[in-house]
Amino acid sequence: MEGVCAVILAAGKGKRMKSDVPKVLHKVAGAPLVSHVIDAAREAGIREIVVVVGEKTENLQEILGDGCRYVLQERPLGTGDAVRRALPALTEGAREVVILCGDTPLLRGATIRKLVEERRAASAAVAVLTSIVDDPSGYGRILRDEKGMVVGIIEESDATPEQRLIREINTGTYVFLKEALEATLARLRPENQQGEYYLTDCIGFLKEAQERICAVSAPVEETAGVNTRKDLVFAEKILRERQCQRLLDSGVTIIDPGNTYIDKGVEVGRDTVIYPFTILEGKTKVGEGCVLGPGTRLIDCTIGNQVTIQYSVVVGSSLGDCCQVGPFSYIRPGTVLAEGVKVGDFVELKKAVIGAGSKVPHLSYVGDAVVGEGVNIGAGTITCNYDGVSKHETRIGNRAFIGSNTNLVAPVTIGEGAVTGAGSTITKDVPPGALAVERARQVVVPNWRKKKEK
Ligand code: UD1
Ligand code: MG
Repeated sequence: MEGVCAVILAAGKGKRMKSDVPKVLHKVAGAPLVSHVIDAAREAGIREIVVVVGEKTENLQEILGDGCRYVLQERPLGTGDAVRRALPALTEGAREVVILCGDTPLLRGATIRKLVEERRAASAAVAVLTSIVDDPSGYGRILRDEKGMVVGIIEESDATPEQRLIREINTGTYVFLKEALEATLARLRPENQQGEYYLTDCIGFLKEAQERICAVSAPVEETAGVNTRKDLVFAEKILRERQCQRLLDSGVTIIDPGNTYIDKGVEVGRDTVIYPFTILEGKTKVGEGCVLGPGTRLIDCTIGNQVTIQYSVVVGSSLGDCCQVGPFSYIRPGTVLAEGVKVGDFVELKKAVIGAGSKVPHLSYVGDAVVGEGVNIGAGTITCNYDGVSKHETRIGNRAFIGSNTNLVAPVTIGEGAVTGAGSTITKDVPPGALAVERARQVVVPNWRKKKEK
């Protein structure tokens, strides 16, 4: 979008959230409110983006990364003041300024584009995005004259009882011709109920100056602002529905979208089936033909094709094709499962690299371990990786057989094809092909019961 820049207002306190966290950093669908707005601007094709941050959101740059410019508004004196701060940061080439609020995460790129195009078509000084809503409370109301032309915006706290009945609201999204914006911002005065510099007053000033104002309407499912925790619930619901719809359209089966929670950046391959109470978060990528859930949470995971995971939590790990996990497993960061690994019930893995076709079927803890291919780890096996000071590694060679209830006291290496006897506490390396048994010999006393009873 040639000549178009965006200014995103994100310096407000967000009093109505009653939170120590700045409003625009509250998350929906796994990402801060403001980052959804930045995404929408990018989707619209806008390259030049300036974010106005406040005292409390100064660290926004660290969270959102480069790619945007940031300007500081020391004190939240109002949306008009925030835009004024941003102007000096804009490049010469920017002739049209899209203004977005950092608290409208539902807005789509296509709608921003439409607003830009409609302003151009109407040769208007400004285009305002509005919505008709059932409950307009909290929003600025759009004022129109008898011909239906927009003449201004009145904030709720300054509105008369009649104006409060107006159901067409200001969404806080606009496109201004830069020169018109500059001229009117200079005229703002904080003479209103909130004692703030209202950006919305610019619209009235432009009308007075006989400039053209155009309005474009969008449904509230796209324009709703988040001011309270309740608004956050609404935004979350809409975004979640969108994520599920996107996956349904691309060939994923979701048994119950109402009970499935998928973050925005998550990718899922076709013919994967997602059962209820499954949560896919962060940068998770899932392959084709998998069965996820019920009751599964994946955070920042890479999952191959034909993988089954039920009632389990997997974090920061990578699972190869045809792995089977759960029910009731916990796979922690740094774990890498090759193809066809089976991780059964009540198993915890941490930073475990496990070779193709190996099995950890029941009740084990395998941490800081490198396990070869075709290994069987018996029920109740524990890698004793922590000596109270540091962590140590366990290495298990291909086709080794770890007997049930083995304690592997790390650092320790089990050679290829080696076997440990059930119940052994292994503290020394076991050579390839060897059997290591570490337990007292069994004592059998014949007829002991009878003798005792006598
Ligand atoms: C604003 C509009 C209102 C509109 C509503 C839509 C004004 C005066 N009012 O009201 O007409 O219906 O948005 O959601 O513009 N911000 C700053 N610096 C400040 C104040 C605010 O950066 O000094 C940022 C906030 O972080 C927020 C955005 O601007 O992202 C909007 O501020 P907010 O306080 O939510 O304004 P509303 O009262 O919702
Ligand atoms: Mg708001």
